[in-house]
Order: sequence, then C-alpha cells, then structure tokens
Amino acid sequence: MFAYIEQITQTMNPPNQILLIPCTVIFLLWYYLHVPWNLPNLPRIPFYVSIIGLWSSMGQDEIYERWLRKPLESHGAVLIWFAGRWSILVTKPEWLTDMFRNEDLYAKAGSQKKIPWSVIATLVGDNIINAHGENWKLYTAIMKPGLQKKHFDVQPVVRKSRRLVDKLVEEQNLVSADGCDGKGIVANHYVQQWAVDVMGVSFLDLDLQALEKPLNAVRLESIQSVIKGILFRPLFFNFPDLDRFPWLFNSRKFAFRIMNEFGDRLVDAVHDKINTQNYKPPGGDDMVVHMLARARRDGRLTEKQYRDNLKIVFLTAHENAQQLVNSMFWQLGTLPDAQQKLRDEIRFANCNPEALTDLPYLTATIYELLRLYPPVSQLINRITLRDAQLGGKVAIPKGTFVGWNAYGVHVNPAIWGPDAMEFRPERWGSTVNEMHARFRRDTVRGTYIPFNAHSRKCLGQGFVLLQMRVLLAELVGRVKWRVEDGYQLKMTPGGIMAPLGCKVVLEEVNKSA
Ligand code: HEM
Repeated sequence: MFAYIEQITQTMNPPNQILLIPCTVIFLLWYYLHVPWNLPNLPRIPFYVSIIGLWSSMGQDEIYERWLRKPLESHGAVLIWFAGRWSILVTKPEWLTDMFRNEDLYAKAGSQKKIPWSVIATLVGDNIINAHGENWKLYTAIMKPGLQKKHFDVQPVVRKSRRLVDKLVEEQNLVSADGCDGKGIVANHYVQQWAVDVMGVSFLDLDLQALEKPLNAVRLESIQSVIKGILFRPLFFNFPDLDRFPWLFNSRKFAFRIMNEFGDRLVDAVHDKINTQNYKPPGGDDMVVHMLARARRDGRLTEKQYRDNLKIVFLTAHENAQQLVNSMFWQLGTLPDAQQKLRDEIRFANCNPEALTDLPYLTATIYELLRLYPPVSQLINRITLRDAQLGGKVAIPKGTFVGWNAYGVHVNPAIWGPDAMEFRPERWGSTVNEMHARFRRDTVRGTYIPFNAHSRKCLGQGFVLLQMRVLLAELVGRVKWRVEDGYQLKMTPGGIMAPLGCKVVLEEVNKSA
C-alpha cells in the first residue's frame, strides 16, 4: 500500500502533494478504526467511550450506566472497540452459556495471541488462564491439584488476616494520635500486602512477609502497584500497536523493564527457596509451585511456560482477592448494621475457621459482594475459530474477538429484579445450602459469572471464598469501620473493578463496647 501511495505522489504537482498528506492520515485512521463490514448488526458503542479515560476520570460503573446498559439490556450484545479492534461484548445469559460451553469454537485467545508484542503479553505470557487447546490441557493437568486442594491449610490465612487487622488498627491509632480524629486510612496498601502474603504462603511456598515489613520494603509486592498503574493506561490499552515502538515512548521502555524485573525476581525467589538441593517442604510438596517445579525438571514445561504460569498464579491469586476486599471495605463501611449482623453470627457461632463455611449471612455477604463488585468485571479474550451463530441467533465471522461483561449481567433488573443495584445479601436465601444451590444454578445459567462458568471457570474460587470468610471473621470480630465523611465512590475506570482511594475510619469493638 505504501509503495502505491509513493507512486501516486511522484506523479503529482506540489500543491496536490500537500493535500495528499491529510488525505493519507484520514485514510489510515479510517483503515485502523472502521468497523469491519462482516460483523453482525448489533448496536455500536461509540469509539470515544473506549478512550474516555484519556480526558475523564469516569469510573467503569458510570461508563456502563451512561453508554452500555441500555443497548446491552435491549440487545444482549454490542460492538465495542477493545484493545485495538472492534469486538463483540455479550451479556445475554443464554448467549454467554453458549460461549462458555463451546470453548472449541469460542477459543481463549489472550494477549499472548492477540498482541504478542505488547507490554501486557510480556507480563502474562502463555498461561493456564489464557491458553487454549493442548497447552491449556497440559497446564491444567499439572496445576489443578495444587489450585483445588481438598484441604488448604487455613492457619497461615488466619495468621496473615490477624496481622492485617493489627496493621490497620496501628495505622488508625497513628492517624488518630496525630489529632486527626475522624480521619480515616487508605486500607488498600495493607490489603495488597495481605493478599500477596496469603498468595505466597498458600500457592508458592513463599512467605514474602510483606505485612511484617514497612510499606514498599518487599519489592515483589511493591512492584505490583507499579504494574497495576501501567497496565490499563487508556492510550496504550486501546492502541496496543503503540507497544511496537517502545523507542518512541520512554514510559513503555520502562514498562517492559518492570514486567521483566517482576518475572526475574519471582523466578529467583522461588528458585532460592524450593529448588535448592534437599529442600523438604514442611507441609508436604502439594502446592502449585512444587507441581510447576517438578514439571519443569521433568521437561514437561519449558522454562518460559514455567515462568509464565508462576507469574499468573502470583498475579491472579492476589489481585482479585485484594480488589474484592477493597470493595468490601467500601460497601460494608456504609452499612454498620450488616457489620453487626456478621459480628453477631460469628460470635454466636464461636467457631473455628473451618466452621465458617456454615454461616449463612457471611456466605451471602461474600456472594453479594461478588455480584455487585465482580473484580473481573469485563473480559474480551476469546476468538471464533470458525464462523459461529451465537445462541443460534447472532452470526459471527471467524476470527472475531468476543467477551463478556459480568457487571452488566449482575446489575440487570430483568435478571436480578428491580433491586439489582442494591446490596442485599438476603436475596441469596436463608440457609447455606439454599445459597450454594443458587450460586451453582446461576453460574450454570450464565446469570452469575464472577468466576466465569463451565469448562474455563476459575480454579481458585474455592480458595478465595475461604480466604474471604477468614478475613471477614477476623475483621468484624475486632473492628467496626465506616467510610470517611466526604468520600464519594469512584470506581476504577477500567481493568479490575474496585473503588479508588476509599478511606475508612476504624474503631476497635472492645474499646467501643
Ligand atoms: C476474587 C477472586 C477471584 C476472582 C473474581 C476470579 C475470577 C476469575 C475469572 C473471571 C476467571 C476466568 C477468566 C477468563 O475467562 O479468562 C478465572 C480463571 C482462573 N482463575 Fe480465578 N479468580 C479469583 C481468584 C483466583 C485465585 C485465588 C486463583 C488461584 C491461583 C485463581 C486461579 C484461576 C485460574 C487458574 C483460572 C483459569 C481457569 C481455566 O481457564 O482453566 N483465581 N478467575
């Protein structure tokens, strides 16, 4: 194409040559941004909505309300510009189940396939979440027993959760002692330390001790804040082709360097601990890290596959839990009665951590948090391997990217009733059995998808529910909290969904009793 343009230019006189420049720019923009003719006839979300983060700080809930809710609720799917191309975003449950059930047609294709040159692909590589076919089967066979253990050792989670509450109380006391009564603290820094520590002791046989040290003292943990700040920058997220030219952008050179540093440090930390000769894990060698290391030694995994899967365990097993806890601090911080109800249930039951699974209000609270604040709120990471008819209705050509919006499904009044936007744990039923049954039924039907559904559903779901139960029990047992006066809810503009900059004021319950 460029040779053709050059040929035309040579045959033109100078004024026409000058005119050709804007024409070429317009043509190239059109070429890059136009909607392919063969996409189905669905409402199109205006292009500027995808790049709105360049000039506005709107949260993803506000963006959804303003531009996506109406077309999605009336049509079940829309065309949207996502990560450099027009894709199909779906919220109609029947169509979602069709997509989730048929992974051989709607195949996982993460950034390692879509944009392999990009910063995000450098971070995540080819792993158990984004791989397809034989690679996915291989990773699953190796890792699943470590991700879905029948009995996770709950004591390290209890220890870390107690430590988190200690740190929050210490920080609140410092702020209050400074004469700032009524001022709150940002829990997120400590919640990240907790989430990384819990992930380390539960999956990687590594106690990173981030909670034991001052903020930013453990690089593998503090680097996460840098990575999260880089990943969803609207310009590079929406135009990943820019990552082909890191020499043009210093910030991208830095981004590539940080992603590599994270991988190097993680592999070294694991190596120093478990790959040393004669290391015998005290709790047995049934963690996912031991399985990955064995597969690497046996030659079932290449060095890169080993590294990519270590990284994804680190990332996914801490960040989603971290952000769910942030949403929990916000939501329950506005509902003192719900906190008290949890406190009464936990005290009355006077239970050990294992018995927490039997508590109905605790269970319903976590399910309801995942409904209104699904950390993975939207993902477009599947590609049609052949021409498809989604739900027998929407003709989708081969090679189209398709995905889902969990938040949209969960706040649709046609699915969840007129109070869909309200936090109401009671909707889950009155007994734990009833709640589990509803959870399973809605997952299978595609009406409750915080963990996705069917063959590619989350393998950490059981663990994270346990982790949340333990933390909530420790937290409400020792403190009550409220959102600081004047804080206005602002959700992340894209990526993982959670409140931004929420401050909470904590008070120890035994002091206030
Ligand atoms: C609140 C916490 C969590 C949420 C909301 C969550 C959500 C999800 C979602 C939505 C998916 C599907 C992704 C996709 O379709 O591409 C997924 C997959 C997965 N998650 Fe989680 N996750 C959480 C915690 C965890 C934890 C703690 C682990 C443990 C390492 C984990 C491991 C995985 C794995 C291995 C997959 C891939 C499953 C497959 O494709 O076979 N997750 N998760």
